[in-house]
Amino acid sequence: MNMVQLFEKKKQGLELSQAEIQYFVEGYTTGSIPDYQASSLLMAIRLLGMSDDETFYLTKAMIESGDVIDLTSIEGFKIDKHSTGGVGDKVTLVVTPIIAALGIPVAKFSGKGLGITGGTIDKLESIQGFKTELSSQEFIDNVNQHKIAVAGQTGNLVPADKKLYALRDVTGTVDSIPLIAASIMSKKIASGADGIVLDVKCGSGAFMKTQEEAQRLADTMTAIGEKLGRKVIAHISDMDNPLGKMIGNKLEVVEAYALLSGRLEETHEDLVDECVVIASLMYQIAAGVNEAEATAAVKGVLADGSAAAKFEEFIVAQGGVVSDIVQNDTAHKVAVTAVSEGTVETINALLVGEASVSLGAGRLTKESKLDYDAGIQLIAKKGDHVTNGDTIAYLYSNQPIDEETINKIQQAYTIA
Ligand code: URA
Repeated sequence: MNMVQLFEKKKQGLELSQAEIQYFVEGYTTGSIPDYQASSLLMAIRLLGMSDDETFYLTKAMIESGDVIDLTSIEGFKIDKHSTGGVGDKVTLVVTPIIAALGIPVAKFSGKGLGITGGTIDKLESIQGFKTELSSQEFIDNVNQHKIAVAGQTGNLVPADKKLYALRDVTGTVDSIPLIAASIMSKKIASGADGIVLDVKCGSGAFMKTQEEAQRLADTMTAIGEKLGRKVIAHISDMDNPLGKMIGNKLEVVEAYALLSGRLEETHEDLVDECVVIASLMYQIAAGVNEAEATAAVKGVLADGSAAAKFEEFIVAQGGVVSDIVQNDTAHKVAVTAVSEGTVETINALLVGEASVSLGAGRLTKESKLDYDAGIQLIAKKGDHVTNGDTIAYLYSNQPIDEETINKIQQAYTIA
Protein backbone atom coordinates (compact mmCIF):
# COMPACT_ATOMS: atom_id res chain seq x y z
CA MET A 1 0.00 0.00 0.00
CA ASN A 2 1.22 3.55 -0.61
CA MET A 3 -0.17 7.07 -0.42
CA VAL A 4 -0.31 7.55 -4.21
CA GLN A 5 -2.83 4.68 -4.42
CA LEU A 6 -4.92 6.40 -1.76
CA PHE A 7 -4.87 9.67 -3.74
CA GLU A 8 -5.98 7.83 -6.90
CA LYS A 9 -8.93 6.23 -5.11
CA LYS A 10 -10.00 9.52 -3.55
CA LYS A 11 -9.72 11.28 -6.95
CA GLN A 12 -12.01 8.69 -8.51
CA GLY A 13 -14.56 9.32 -5.77
CA LEU A 14 -14.02 5.89 -4.23
CA GLU A 15 -14.12 5.22 -0.49
CA LEU A 16 -10.95 4.43 1.40
CA SER A 17 -10.99 1.15 3.31
CA GLN A 18 -10.37 0.77 7.03
CA ALA A 19 -6.90 -0.66 6.30
CA GLU A 20 -6.01 2.29 4.05
CA ILE A 21 -7.11 4.85 6.63
CA GLN A 22 -5.19 3.00 9.35
CA TYR A 23 -2.12 2.96 7.10
CA PHE A 24 -2.34 6.74 6.65
CA VAL A 25 -2.90 7.57 10.34
CA GLU A 26 -0.22 5.19 11.60
CA GLY A 27 2.28 6.25 8.95
CA TYR A 28 1.78 9.95 9.53
CA THR A 29 1.91 9.63 13.33
CA THR A 30 5.12 7.61 13.26
CA GLY A 31 6.74 9.81 10.62
CA SER A 32 6.96 7.39 7.67
CA ILE A 33 4.45 9.48 5.68
CA PRO A 34 5.74 13.02 5.06
CA ASP A 35 3.79 16.25 5.60
CA TYR A 36 3.36 16.89 1.86
CA GLN A 37 1.56 13.60 1.28
CA ALA A 38 -0.57 13.98 4.41
CA SER A 39 -1.45 17.55 3.32
CA SER A 40 -2.56 16.30 -0.07
CA LEU A 41 -4.90 13.72 1.42
CA LEU A 42 -6.25 16.22 3.96
CA MET A 43 -7.07 18.67 1.16
CA ALA A 44 -8.78 15.90 -0.82
CA ILE A 45 -10.87 15.12 2.27
CA ARG A 46 -11.57 18.82 2.81
CA LEU A 47 -12.84 19.16 -0.77
CA LEU A 48 -14.49 15.79 -1.38
CA GLY A 49 -15.60 14.84 2.14
CA MET A 50 -15.69 11.38 3.68
CA SER A 51 -18.44 8.80 3.99
CA ASP A 52 -19.76 7.91 7.47
CA ASP A 53 -17.72 4.69 7.38
CA GLU A 54 -14.52 6.50 6.39
CA THR A 55 -15.05 9.07 9.17
CA PHE A 56 -15.62 6.28 11.68
CA TYR A 57 -12.45 4.41 10.59
CA LEU A 58 -10.47 7.66 10.79
CA THR A 59 -11.70 8.28 14.35
CA LYS A 60 -10.88 4.70 15.37
CA ALA A 61 -7.39 4.82 13.88
CA MET A 62 -6.75 8.12 15.66
CA ILE A 63 -7.88 6.68 19.02
CA GLU A 64 -5.58 3.70 18.46
CA SER A 65 -2.60 5.97 17.75
CA GLY A 66 -2.03 6.50 21.50
CA ASP A 67 -3.18 5.80 25.04
CA VAL A 68 -6.78 5.31 26.06
CA ILE A 69 -7.51 6.47 29.60
CA ASP A 70 -9.01 3.88 31.89
CA LEU A 71 -11.50 5.48 34.26
CA THR A 72 -12.99 2.21 35.53
CA SER A 73 -11.61 2.84 39.02
CA ILE A 74 -13.95 5.83 39.29
CA GLU A 75 -17.36 4.76 40.49
CA GLY A 76 -20.46 5.85 38.63
CA PHE A 77 -21.31 7.15 35.19
CA LYS A 78 -18.51 9.48 34.10
CA ILE A 79 -19.68 12.46 32.11
CA ASP A 80 -17.77 14.82 29.86
CA LYS A 81 -18.72 17.75 27.65
CA HIS A 82 -17.10 19.35 24.66
CA SER A 83 -17.60 22.63 22.89
CA THR A 84 -16.51 22.99 19.29
CA GLY A 85 -15.08 26.35 20.34
CA GLY A 86 -16.29 29.89 20.65
CA VAL A 87 -15.68 33.41 21.91
CA GLY A 88 -16.40 34.00 25.60
CA ASP A 89 -17.35 30.34 25.98
CA LYS A 90 -16.73 29.64 29.68
CA VAL A 91 -19.54 27.08 29.93
CA THR A 92 -17.21 24.29 31.10
CA LEU A 93 -16.14 26.37 34.12
CA VAL A 94 -19.78 26.68 35.18
CA VAL A 95 -21.31 23.32 34.30
CA THR A 96 -18.61 20.99 35.63
CA PRO A 97 -19.02 22.10 39.29
CA ILE A 98 -22.81 22.04 38.87
CA ILE A 99 -22.70 18.40 37.78
CA ALA A 100 -20.18 17.47 40.46
CA ALA A 101 -22.40 19.16 43.07
CA LEU A 102 -25.18 16.85 41.87
CA GLY A 103 -22.96 13.86 42.72
CA ILE A 104 -22.04 12.87 39.14
CA PRO A 105 -18.31 12.30 38.51
CA VAL A 106 -16.87 14.77 36.02
CA ALA A 107 -13.60 13.53 34.52
CA LYS A 108 -12.65 16.12 31.97
CA PHE A 109 -9.64 16.63 29.76
CA SER A 110 -9.52 20.00 28.09
CA GLY A 111 -7.38 21.83 25.60
CA LYS A 112 -5.65 25.16 25.19
CA GLY A 113 -7.08 27.87 22.99
CA LEU A 114 -5.89 28.39 19.45
CA GLY A 115 -6.83 31.30 17.22
CA ILE A 116 -9.92 33.18 18.32
CA THR A 117 -11.37 30.35 20.40
CA GLY A 118 -10.35 30.21 24.05
CA GLY A 119 -9.38 27.02 25.88
CA THR A 120 -10.44 25.90 29.34
CA ILE A 121 -6.88 24.97 30.32
CA ASP A 122 -5.63 28.52 29.67
CA LYS A 123 -8.51 29.93 31.70
CA LEU A 124 -7.80 27.66 34.66
CA GLU A 125 -4.07 28.35 34.46
CA SER A 126 -4.83 32.06 34.92
CA ILE A 127 -5.72 31.24 38.55
CA GLN A 128 -2.71 31.53 40.83
CA GLY A 129 -1.33 28.07 41.69
CA PHE A 130 -3.85 26.06 39.64
CA LYS A 131 -2.31 22.85 38.31
CA THR A 132 -3.67 21.44 35.05
CA GLU A 133 -1.02 18.74 34.72
CA LEU A 134 -2.15 15.87 36.91
CA SER A 135 -0.78 12.33 36.98
CA SER A 136 -3.37 9.64 36.14
CA GLN A 137 -3.54 8.71 39.83
CA GLU A 138 -4.03 12.33 40.98
CA PHE A 139 -6.73 12.78 38.35
CA ILE A 140 -8.60 9.64 39.41
CA ASP A 141 -8.18 10.43 43.14
CA ASN A 142 -9.57 13.94 42.64
CA VAL A 143 -12.62 12.64 40.77
CA ASN A 144 -13.23 10.01 43.46
CA GLN A 145 -12.82 12.49 46.30
CA HIS A 146 -14.30 15.70 44.86
CA LYS A 147 -16.34 14.34 41.91
CA ILE A 148 -14.42 16.66 39.59
CA ALA A 149 -11.06 16.98 37.90
CA VAL A 150 -10.16 19.01 34.82
CA ALA A 151 -6.73 18.41 33.33
CA GLY A 152 -4.78 19.09 30.17
CA GLN A 153 -4.59 16.29 27.66
CA THR A 154 -1.81 13.86 28.54
CA GLY A 155 1.24 13.51 26.32
CA ASN A 156 0.20 10.39 24.51
CA LEU A 157 -3.54 10.89 24.16
CA VAL A 158 -4.36 10.75 20.42
CA PRO A 159 -0.89 11.76 19.16
CA ALA A 160 -2.29 11.48 15.62
CA ASP A 161 -4.57 14.45 16.34
CA LYS A 162 -1.71 16.58 17.67
CA LYS A 163 0.20 16.12 14.40
CA LEU A 164 -2.79 16.26 12.10
CA TYR A 165 -4.33 19.31 13.80
CA ALA A 166 -1.05 21.24 13.54
CA LEU A 167 -0.85 20.35 9.85
CA ARG A 168 -4.51 21.22 9.20
CA ASP A 169 -3.99 24.57 10.87
CA VAL A 170 -1.41 25.59 8.25
CA THR A 171 -2.92 23.90 5.18
CA GLY A 172 -6.42 25.37 5.18
CA THR A 173 -8.02 22.07 6.18
CA VAL A 174 -9.44 22.77 9.64
CA ASP A 175 -13.01 23.48 8.50
CA SER A 176 -13.91 20.00 7.34
CA ILE A 177 -16.79 18.18 9.03
CA PRO A 178 -15.24 14.66 8.93
CA LEU A 179 -11.86 15.97 10.09
CA ILE A 180 -13.36 17.99 12.94
CA ALA A 181 -15.63 15.10 13.95
CA ALA A 182 -12.75 12.59 14.02
CA SER A 183 -10.48 15.05 15.86
CA ILE A 184 -12.99 15.79 18.60
CA MET A 185 -14.47 12.32 19.00
CA SER A 186 -11.10 10.54 19.05
CA LYS A 187 -10.04 12.71 22.02
CA LYS A 188 -13.37 12.34 23.80
CA ILE A 189 -13.45 8.55 23.43
CA ALA A 190 -9.78 8.16 24.41
CA SER A 191 -10.49 10.26 27.53
CA GLY A 192 -12.63 7.43 28.87
CA ALA A 193 -15.97 9.06 29.79
CA ASP A 194 -19.21 7.05 29.50
CA GLY A 195 -21.31 9.96 28.31
CA ILE A 196 -20.54 13.09 26.32
CA VAL A 197 -22.53 16.27 25.72
CA LEU A 198 -21.41 18.05 22.58
CA ASP A 199 -22.00 21.79 22.37
CA VAL A 200 -21.79 22.51 18.66
CA LYS A 201 -21.30 26.23 18.07
CA CYS A 202 -22.80 27.86 15.00
CA GLY A 203 -22.21 31.36 13.64
CA SER A 204 -19.58 33.95 12.76
CA GLY A 205 -17.29 33.02 15.68
CA ALA A 206 -17.49 29.26 15.07
CA PHE A 207 -16.07 26.77 12.58
CA MET A 208 -19.63 25.96 11.49
CA LYS A 209 -21.18 29.08 10.00
CA THR A 210 -24.66 27.73 9.20
CA GLN A 211 -27.28 25.72 11.07
CA GLU A 212 -27.16 23.03 8.37
CA GLU A 213 -23.39 22.53 8.72
CA ALA A 214 -23.64 22.52 12.51
CA GLN A 215 -26.38 19.88 12.35
CA ARG A 216 -24.26 17.71 10.04
CA LEU A 217 -21.30 17.96 12.41
CA ALA A 218 -23.54 17.16 15.39
CA ASP A 219 -25.04 14.11 13.64
CA THR A 220 -21.63 12.85 12.52
CA MET A 221 -20.14 13.09 16.02
CA THR A 222 -23.18 11.56 17.71
CA ALA A 223 -23.14 8.58 15.32
CA ILE A 224 -19.42 7.95 15.97
CA GLY A 225 -19.88 8.11 19.76
CA GLU A 226 -22.87 5.79 19.76
CA LYS A 227 -21.09 3.30 17.51
CA LEU A 228 -18.31 3.22 20.10
CA GLY A 229 -20.74 2.53 22.94
CA ARG A 230 -21.00 6.00 24.45
CA LYS A 231 -24.13 7.97 25.33
CA VAL A 232 -23.92 11.17 23.32
CA ILE A 233 -26.19 14.21 23.01
CA ALA A 234 -25.41 17.16 20.77
CA HIS A 235 -26.78 20.64 21.26
CA ILE A 236 -26.39 23.43 18.70
CA SER A 237 -25.89 26.91 20.11
CA ASP A 238 -25.41 30.43 18.77
CA MET A 239 -21.89 31.74 18.20
CA ASP A 240 -22.81 34.77 16.10
CA ASN A 241 -22.49 36.74 19.32
CA PRO A 242 -19.91 36.23 22.10
CA LEU A 243 -21.24 34.38 25.13
CA GLY A 244 -21.64 36.35 28.36
CA LYS A 245 -19.92 39.64 29.10
CA MET A 246 -16.25 38.71 29.44
CA ILE A 247 -13.72 37.53 26.87
CA GLY A 248 -10.21 36.70 28.09
CA ASN A 249 -8.80 34.06 30.38
CA LYS A 250 -8.95 35.49 33.90
CA LEU A 251 -11.95 37.66 33.05
CA GLU A 252 -13.90 34.56 32.06
CA VAL A 253 -13.04 32.73 35.28
CA VAL A 254 -14.23 35.80 37.24
CA GLU A 255 -17.51 35.79 35.29
CA ALA A 256 -18.04 32.05 35.75
CA TYR A 257 -17.45 32.33 39.52
CA ALA A 258 -19.88 35.28 39.70
CA LEU A 259 -22.56 33.27 37.89
CA LEU A 260 -22.08 30.28 40.20
CA SER A 261 -22.19 32.59 43.22
CA GLY A 262 -25.49 34.14 42.14
CA ARG A 263 -24.02 37.56 41.27
CA LEU A 264 -26.01 37.64 38.06
CA GLU A 265 -25.47 41.36 37.42
CA GLU A 266 -21.83 40.47 36.60
CA THR A 267 -22.86 38.13 33.79
CA HIS A 268 -25.57 37.91 31.13
CA GLU A 269 -28.65 35.75 30.72
CA ASP A 270 -27.35 34.26 27.43
CA LEU A 271 -24.56 32.58 29.41
CA VAL A 272 -26.85 31.57 32.27
CA ASP A 273 -29.36 29.99 29.86
CA GLU A 274 -26.66 28.14 27.91
CA CYS A 275 -25.09 26.77 31.11
CA VAL A 276 -28.46 25.55 32.41
CA VAL A 277 -29.17 23.78 29.09
CA ILE A 278 -25.76 22.08 28.89
CA ALA A 279 -25.70 21.09 32.58
CA SER A 280 -29.23 19.76 32.26
CA LEU A 281 -28.28 17.60 29.24
CA MET A 282 -25.25 16.26 31.14
CA TYR A 283 -27.42 15.39 34.13
CA GLN A 284 -30.11 13.82 31.92
CA ILE A 285 -27.73 11.34 30.33
CA ALA A 286 -25.77 10.65 33.52
CA ALA A 287 -28.72 10.25 35.91
CA GLY A 288 -31.36 9.06 33.43
CA VAL A 289 -33.84 11.76 34.45
CA ASN A 290 -36.08 13.81 32.18
CA GLU A 291 -35.46 17.39 31.06
CA ALA A 292 -37.74 19.01 33.64
CA GLU A 293 -36.18 17.05 36.53
CA ALA A 294 -32.65 17.75 35.32
CA THR A 295 -33.28 21.47 34.88
CA ALA A 296 -34.82 21.74 38.36
CA ALA A 297 -31.84 19.91 39.87
CA VAL A 298 -29.35 22.19 38.07
CA LYS A 299 -31.17 25.35 39.16
CA GLY A 300 -31.35 23.92 42.69
CA VAL A 301 -27.58 23.61 43.16
CA LEU A 302 -27.09 27.06 41.66
CA ALA A 303 -29.63 28.59 44.05
CA ASP A 304 -28.50 26.85 47.26
CA GLY A 305 -24.80 27.69 46.80
CA SER A 306 -23.59 24.11 46.50
CA ALA A 307 -22.36 24.57 42.90
CA ALA A 308 -20.30 27.63 43.99
CA ALA A 309 -18.93 25.66 46.97
CA LYS A 310 -18.01 22.78 44.63
CA PHE A 311 -16.21 25.20 42.31
CA GLU A 312 -14.12 26.49 45.24
CA GLU A 313 -13.40 22.91 46.39
CA PHE A 314 -12.28 22.01 42.85
CA ILE A 315 -9.99 25.05 42.55
CA VAL A 316 -8.33 24.27 45.91
CA ALA A 317 -8.04 20.54 45.10
CA GLN A 318 -5.94 21.41 42.05
CA GLY A 319 -3.72 23.86 43.94
CA GLY A 320 -5.50 27.10 43.01
CA VAL A 321 -6.10 30.12 45.24
CA VAL A 322 -9.79 31.06 45.32
CA SER A 323 -9.11 34.60 46.59
CA ASP A 324 -7.10 35.17 43.39
CA ILE A 325 -10.28 34.92 41.30
CA VAL A 326 -10.67 38.68 40.94
CA GLN A 327 -10.27 41.01 37.99
CA ASN A 328 -6.74 42.43 38.07
CA ASP A 329 -5.83 45.89 36.88
CA THR A 330 -3.97 45.94 33.60
CA ALA A 331 -1.41 48.51 32.48
CA HIS A 332 -3.82 49.69 29.78
CA LYS A 333 -7.60 50.04 29.79
CA VAL A 334 -9.64 51.67 27.00
CA ALA A 335 -13.36 52.45 26.90
CA VAL A 336 -14.85 51.82 23.44
CA THR A 337 -17.79 54.07 22.64
CA ALA A 338 -20.81 53.70 20.37
CA VAL A 339 -20.61 55.62 17.09
CA SER A 340 -24.35 55.77 16.52
CA GLU A 341 -27.64 55.52 18.36
CA GLY A 342 -29.99 52.54 18.34
CA THR A 343 -30.39 48.96 19.46
CA VAL A 344 -27.48 46.51 19.37
CA GLU A 345 -28.52 43.99 16.74
CA THR A 346 -25.45 41.75 16.77
CA ILE A 347 -21.91 41.71 18.13
CA ASN A 348 -19.75 39.90 15.59
CA ALA A 349 -18.03 37.13 17.57
CA LEU A 350 -15.26 36.70 15.00
CA LEU A 351 -14.18 40.36 15.26
CA VAL A 352 -14.38 40.30 19.05
CA GLY A 353 -12.31 37.11 19.08
CA GLU A 354 -9.71 38.69 16.81
CA ALA A 355 -9.55 41.79 19.03
CA SER A 356 -9.06 39.64 22.14
CA VAL A 357 -6.12 37.88 20.46
CA SER A 358 -4.55 41.30 19.64
CA LEU A 359 -4.91 42.31 23.28
CA GLY A 360 -2.89 39.24 24.31
CA ALA A 361 -5.71 36.97 25.48
CA GLY A 362 -5.23 34.42 22.68
CA ARG A 363 -2.46 32.80 20.69
CA LEU A 364 -1.38 33.58 17.17
CA THR A 365 1.00 30.60 17.24
CA LYS A 366 1.27 27.65 19.58
CA GLU A 367 4.29 29.32 21.20
CA SER A 368 2.60 32.69 21.89
CA LYS A 369 2.68 33.75 25.54
CA LEU A 370 -0.69 34.75 26.97
CA ASP A 371 -1.52 37.84 28.97
CA TYR A 372 -3.96 36.20 31.39
CA ASP A 373 -5.50 39.51 32.50
CA ALA A 374 -6.06 40.82 28.96
CA GLY A 375 -9.46 40.79 27.34
CA ILE A 376 -12.75 42.50 26.69
CA GLN A 377 -15.71 43.35 28.86
CA LEU A 378 -18.88 43.85 26.85
CA ILE A 379 -20.97 46.55 28.47
CA ALA A 380 -23.65 46.65 25.76
CA LYS A 381 -25.06 43.29 24.65
CA LYS A 382 -27.45 42.28 21.89
CA GLY A 383 -30.82 44.00 22.39
CA ASP A 384 -29.46 46.88 24.51
CA HIS A 385 -30.19 50.48 23.53
CA VAL A 386 -27.16 52.77 23.16
CA THR A 387 -26.64 56.41 22.24
CA ASN A 388 -23.69 57.95 20.42
CA GLY A 389 -20.71 58.16 22.82
CA ASP A 390 -21.96 55.52 25.32
CA THR A 391 -19.34 53.06 26.51
CA ILE A 392 -20.10 49.74 24.83
CA ALA A 393 -17.01 47.79 25.95
CA TYR A 394 -13.77 48.02 27.90
CA LEU A 395 -10.50 46.64 26.59
CA TYR A 396 -7.81 45.44 28.98
CA SER A 397 -4.19 44.67 28.18
CA ASN A 398 -0.70 44.88 29.60
CA GLN A 399 0.55 46.06 26.23
CA PRO A 400 -0.49 49.34 24.56
CA ILE A 401 -3.91 49.05 22.88
CA ASP A 402 -3.87 50.15 19.23
CA GLU A 403 -6.54 51.98 17.22
CA GLU A 404 -7.10 48.94 15.00
CA THR A 405 -8.28 46.88 17.96
CA ILE A 406 -10.59 49.66 19.16
CA ASN A 407 -12.02 50.02 15.64
CA LYS A 408 -12.54 46.28 15.42
CA ILE A 409 -14.79 46.36 18.47
CA GLN A 410 -16.74 49.31 17.07
CA GLN A 411 -17.15 47.43 13.76
CA ALA A 412 -18.26 44.31 15.65
CA TYR A 413 -21.32 46.14 16.93
CA THR A 414 -24.21 46.41 14.49
CA ILE A 415 -26.40 49.15 15.92
CA ALA A 416 -29.73 49.43 14.13
N1 URA B 1 -11.62 21.21 17.98
C1 URA B 1 -10.88 20.08 17.87
O1 URA B 1 -10.49 19.48 18.86
N2 URA B 1 -10.60 19.64 16.63
C2 URA B 1 -11.01 20.26 15.52
O2 URA B 1 -10.71 19.79 14.43
C3 URA B 1 -11.77 21.43 15.65
C4 URA B 1 -12.08 21.88 16.90
